[in-house]
Amino acid sequence: MEDTATLRIADENYTFPLMVGTEGEKAIDTRSLRSSSGFITYDDGYGNTGSCQSKITFIDGEKGILRYRGYPIEQLAESSTFIEAAYLIIYGELPNRGQLSQFSQNVLRQARIDVGMNNIFEGFPHNSHPMAMLSAMLNTLGCYYSELASNNRERDLENFDQAASVLLSKVRTLAAMSYRMKQGLPFIYPKGNMGYSQNFLHMMFSEPYNEYYPHDDVTKALDLIFLLHADHEQNCSTSTVRMVASGGANLFASVAAGVCALWGPLHGGANMAVVKMLQEIHDAGDDGRKFIEKAKKGEARLMGFGHRVYKNYDPRAKILGEYCEKVLKALGRKDPLLDIARHLEQEALSDDYFIQRKLYPNVDFYSGIILKAVGLPLDMFTVIFAIGRMPGWIANWKEVAESSSRIHRPRQIYVGPTIRDYVMMKDRGRDWPPAAKE
Ligand code: CMC
Repeated sequence: MEDTATLRIADENYTFPLMVGTEGEKAIDTRSLRSSSGFITYDDGYGNTGSCQSKITFIDGEKGILRYRGYPIEQLAESSTFIEAAYLIIYGELPNRGQLSQFSQNVLRQARIDVGMNNIFEGFPHNSHPMAMLSAMLNTLGCYYSELASNNRERDLENFDQAASVLLSKVRTLAAMSYRMKQGLPFIYPKGNMGYSQNFLHMMFSEPYNEYYPHDDVTKALDLIFLLHADHEQNCSTSTVRMVASGGANLFASVAAGVCALWGPLHGGANMAVVKMLQEIHDAGDDGRKFIEKAKKGEARLMGFGHRVYKNYDPRAKILGEYCEKVLKALGRKDPLLDIARHLEQEALSDDYFIQRKLYPNVDFYSGIILKAVGLPLDMFTVIFAIGRMPGWIANWKEVAESSSRIHRPRQIYVGPTIRDYVMMKDRGRDWPPAAKE
């Protein structure tokens, strides 16, 4: 293959280098396009734009492949834990026994929150969404660790290890606190002898007079969900984290922005939307068929289906789809929503509309059913996604901070009004503004 690409505009040829990633992904390096030709590329939604080079996660959407640092997600789901996967994602290699133990201890030691932050929680109205609280509190955390959040890149990188364990640990404590605050319940302190996911469930559901010990399968299911969400290359929230980091902002501010980006129903908010959708289908006495018809007419969206990158089964959905039965069985529960989900999946996968558009279940299609079985309230589902995604955000921040990448600053095609003179208030009549000319 030639190692350049030539673009012809009018009578002029412009030549650009080609790039190939370690998995054979091909790109045209157009960085000199505007300076040499005066043109920019237009790519609404960035579907064809490589915004960075990254060594963290590889996805092949056509084949349904997901790997963290080269390791297949299926093998990690089978044999690893969230904390080990977090180490892998952040530092690039699987830890040995000593490294893992040290890392787990560092994370464990950071679980407690300064009591000063309790007062800040008390200022939120009780109907606040936990994603809003989480974002605000992660940024606030940076105020309590100002030496780790200096916006001086060299200093923030020197303190990176500590900042990473503070965030990994405390995101879970803050998430549990936001739930307790909304319920009007006292905050529960983390325990020194509990693993990451068990400690989260303890802080969510224990009472000062009655300790909650989750079923091992519940703890394992939650840990698996965290692990499956830990990174997913340049999605909306991770790109946001990188964008904020590119301006030199510290890790705390960057991940707080990531939480906001994740909140939307087309991204992390989809896990909540899936369960709401399944419940509505159930309440309407539908088995999913009527809903599919509505989705095909554009009157509804089949939440938990479709993905910008996967044009095949999302491997995380496959793992969670199989795991659903196991969790419900272990807990001795039946959930009619699982039957509806299975039916919806069957119908959609054999329907031309979904086949032609290559729409398959994504990670959110089954995760909500497991989170519901674990006993988590609906508005905490996206928070669980955020806790899981923290290692990915941290690793991506580090990659930007260590690189010589310029500030992220896309261009645009301006399609607004051309130059016009300011109109004095006295001259803006009742029919203001004047109708736009065709
Ligand atoms: N239900 C029905 N039709 C759909 C769906 C869906 N869930 N998703 C896409 N389509 C149709 C869409 O209407 C369009 O049809 P047409 O070509 O006739 O106009 C076509 O498929 C392409 O859709 P698109 O919106 O251009 O695709 P996109 O790549 O911009 O959007 C998506 C990807 C994930 C936002 C979208 O598939 C969607 O809204 N899915 C439901 C929400 C969801 O489950 N989000 C979680 C994504 S996975 C977790 C994460 O990474 O955040």
